[in-house]
Amino acid sequence: MAVAEKRIILKYADEPGYTPDITCYMKHGGYQRLKKALGMKPEDIVNEVADSGVRGRGGAGFPMGMKMRFLDRKSGKPIYLVCNADESEPGTFKDRQIIHKDPHQLIEGLMITAYAIQAAQAFIYIRGEMYQGARMLETAIEEARAKGFTGANIGGSNYSCEIVVHRGAGAYICGEETGLLESLEGKRPYPRIKPPFFPAVLGLYQCPTLVNNVETICNVKHIVDMGGKEYAKIGRPNNTGTRIWSVSGHVKRPGYYEFECGALTYGELIYDVCGGIRDGHKLKAVIPGGSSSKILRAGERFKGKNKDGSEFDWGIEDIPLDFDGPMAAGSMSGSGAVIVMDDSTDMVEAMANINAFYAHESCGQCTPCREGSLWLRKITSRMCAGGARAEDADLLKSVADQMAGRTICAFGEAASWPVQSFIAKFKDEFVAKAQQAGNASKAPTGRGFRLIG
Ligand SMILES: Cc1cc2nc3c(=O)[nH]c(=O)nc-3n(C[C@H](O)[C@H](O)[C@H](O)COP(=O)(O)O)c2cc1C
Repeated sequence: MAVAEKRIILKYADEPGYTPDITCYMKHGGYQRLKKALGMKPEDIVNEVADSGVRGRGGAGFPMGMKMRFLDRKSGKPIYLVCNADESEPGTFKDRQIIHKDPHQLIEGLMITAYAIQAAQAFIYIRGEMYQGARMLETAIEEARAKGFTGANIGGSNYSCEIVVHRGAGAYICGEETGLLESLEGKRPYPRIKPPFFPAVLGLYQCPTLVNNVETICNVKHIVDMGGKEYAKIGRPNNTGTRIWSVSGHVKRPGYYEFECGALTYGELIYDVCGGIRDGHKLKAVIPGGSSSKILRAGERFKGKNKDGSEFDWGIEDIPLDFDGPMAAGSMSGSGAVIVMDDSTDMVEAMANINAFYAHESCGQCTPCREGSLWLRKITSRMCAGGARAEDADLLKSVADQMAGRTICAFGEAASWPVQSFIAKFKDEFVAKAQQAGNASKAPTGRGFRLIG
């Protein structure tokens, strides 16, 4: 039997009759936690968030409480709060559910977080294509302002904070936090080098800035509600709370699902919750956390030691559905986007699709990323067009190896990890493409960087 969802963030989202307006939200207890928070000391809320162990839901899984504590308060500069609603990682469609179905939950979480870090200005940076979401947030902010939950003297207190919704122009790199901040400042979104530009120290307008994902910020409301230690009992150590997983691909019931971290495995998610693989097909591979995470091949074994010293030996089906599970299997949970592929998938075509995305989205600031992502796309496009060569798999790997770790932001890894893992696990299919093209037996040309023609 399928493990039941544990909905905290999406508790009301799909309830019949639940609407995104403030009246409905308040009927369901909305803004009570903000009132509670305003009666607490800001630093006590930060301590609760730290105690909760909540980790970022945007990609890197960094503990939120730690980031709040990193904020440079000695500088005397204003502190900003920025909510990352860019949701650009392919396969991810969770933040938009919150924004469309329960926007006030985000506004309440944002105001509590802003109060905790004593920010007088908060921003929601939303991707350009999410036009309707942006309008809904603006409406929600106006409703909240009319009730005194944003703006001046919130809830009758002497704390004031404004929220501004800022629409991007639809670029993946604007989801990277420092690129986002550049964009918010009105500039081309070239990511900043860290150090020194850690947002907590030198963020928006060179001021200390907390950047967190939509889902992460929503959790703060529930942490204030139940207390950090109680929240930490949900999930398992280092993987606290629930997570929303966006499942796409060749399962019978794709969709978004919220589960307690570690309560089930990837196998249970795929087979029990999502109804299994399409009829007549078998599981071939899983991308466990958005297109930039390393692909896992059906049948491979993942072995290692747990923190308590015990050993694990997993197939994909056994990997715990949380932060540390996919990490132990050599990949990551990233943005929580699970992409399932069955045996009808042509891995070279899938790779070509991913490479086309990253080549289009590279901001072009760093040469290895700008050139490398383009070369990766050219190679896989040529392979799919019948021009595959014997050396292509090695060439792809070589280009990817020269990108990872050599760029200002993690886009270099995001574009190269898929290639490295596809080649490591499906090299046979890349070689077969060359055989189909009649090029397999030819000696490598040695023209490693001549990609077309
Ligand atoms: C290329 C790239 C794209 C990213 N896109 C997003 C995004 O769309 N949404 C998001 O929340 N985080 C994204 N991130 C992660 C952010 O840089 C940052 O870690 C995150 O917003 C922090 O919030 P969190 O700690 O709550 O996850 C991206 C990172 C990289 C390297």
